[in-house]
Amino acid sequence: MFSGSFDNHLQGRSRDGDFSPLLRLFIEKGEIPLNEKRSSFSGSVGFVLAAAGSAIGLGNLWRFPYLAAKNGGGLFLVVYLALLITFGFTLLVTEVAIGRKTKSSPLMAYGKLHGKWKWIGVFAVVVPFLILPYYCVIGGWVLKYCTVFLTGQVAAASGNGFFTSFITSTAEPLVFMAVYLFLTSFVVYRDINNGIEKFSRFLMPLLFLIVIGVALFSLTIRYDDGAITRTGLDGLAVYLIPNLDGLTVGGFMSLLISAMGQLFFSISVAMGIMITYGSYFEDRGNIFTSIWQIGFFDTFVAFLAGLMTIVPIYVLMGQEGMNASGPSLLFVAMPKTFHAMGLTGTIVGAAFFIMAFFAALTSSISIMEAVVSSIMESLSVSRRKAAIIEGLVAFAIGAVVCLGYNLLYVEIPMPNGSVGQVLDALDYISNGLLMPIVEISTCLLIGWALTPDVVVKEATKNGEPFLQKRMYKTMIRFIAPILLIVLLLQSLGIIG
Ligand code: PHE
Repeated sequence: MFSGSFDNHLQGRSRDGDFSPLLRLFIEKGEIPLNEKRSSFSGSVGFVLAAAGSAIGLGNLWRFPYLAAKNGGGLFLVVYLALLITFGFTLLVTEVAIGRKTKSSPLMAYGKLHGKWKWIGVFAVVVPFLILPYYCVIGGWVLKYCTVFLTGQVAAASGNGFFTSFITSTAEPLVFMAVYLFLTSFVVYRDINNGIEKFSRFLMPLLFLIVIGVALFSLTIRYDDGAITRTGLDGLAVYLIPNLDGLTVGGFMSLLISAMGQLFFSISVAMGIMITYGSYFEDRGNIFTSIWQIGFFDTFVAFLAGLMTIVPIYVLMGQEGMNASGPSLLFVAMPKTFHAMGLTGTIVGAAFFIMAFFAALTSSISIMEAVVSSIMESLSVSRRKAAIIEGLVAFAIGAVVCLGYNLLYVEIPMPNGSVGQVLDALDYISNGLLMPIVEISTCLLIGWALTPDVVVKEATKNGEPFLQKRMYKTMIRFIAPILLIVLLLQSLGIIG
């Protein structure tokens, strides 16, 4: 079934420096007709499903809602959507087209396009390397809440201090992180994405339904202490309607940075993953349609997750609740909503966290796969060795992240003026600094060192109409790099 070189390549003994496939499942199931060296999807559906599995994860359920809450709801939403259809679209087309054109891993792809720009690939691999440890820490939090709901501790979990006392305890978060990381590493080590994907294809639609149901339920929540009344619809208004009161330029810039970092994180760009998926995208497939589908699913889940967390937190805890929650929002808001549901809440809550766990797992597998494949490729070691090395390194960094809330408690000032713990610092370095650097370089490479036509040609090679071609060219040459440079300088604290 496999050609010789492809088989070698699967075992990390690639001769031509190709990437180990994230998408082996499609090959094994015979859905992908193999060409000589590299597989491709038999249809765009396979690509969309696999890429959406990577894209939809904690970024949508955990990160998007807390950033939206921190940035006041409505305006964040509008800015995010505007960035998605301009920036997000531009970057996705570019990465998928680079992948399909070069048929290589990110580590090689940039070099194949232009010998002098190979280093972008190295940067692109550092990003998932930094994300994996803290992603697993939050994956551990999700696991913890699975156990909380499965053992019927909804009432306790809905109390105000529950989450804080969990993350400030020394051993528990470490153990849950270790279990989560072990599960991720095990899948990568044994190369059994196949089974997981099958499982999650069936669970994802369920997650979708639960998220819709909980979002609708949260609209019915009401708070009334005699003096103040807040309803779900008030919460919805906060979530949807942009509030420009007291908005400063600096405030808007930091909102823009957050929205941009979130966009990169959520659609999995700027870290080589979409290049990898692109390299398996069939030559006859329509890149645009597939990209819009991924963008739509990813954003829809994030939108609903925001609704289901922000509305109850606003109704039950008011504006202060929204400002104070930070990265803990999901874990504070959801138990409160489930508690308000009564007995049903225990069941729905357990189902929600179990599915969130699978959504997270398919994403962390793709993150770890990106790092492991690069280790295999650059150090010429086997998949198993690479998985063990990366698993141990991620554990060490993850442990520091966990301890950063207790034994090693730190308040790290970031160059942009915000203060946070180890988790926030890693998130800041990867999303606030490295991702913009990868994307600025990609824009300069495609827009100037080469020409945007390289991407345009690749994406329209079957005669697909490129409706936004003008916008694409202007974006990649001028708007994207300029805005990204401004954002980077702001992130670095160089401009205010
Ligand atoms: N996009 C994923 C999410 O939203 C996270 C992710 C980041 C996946 C980087 C792959 C690479 O959770």
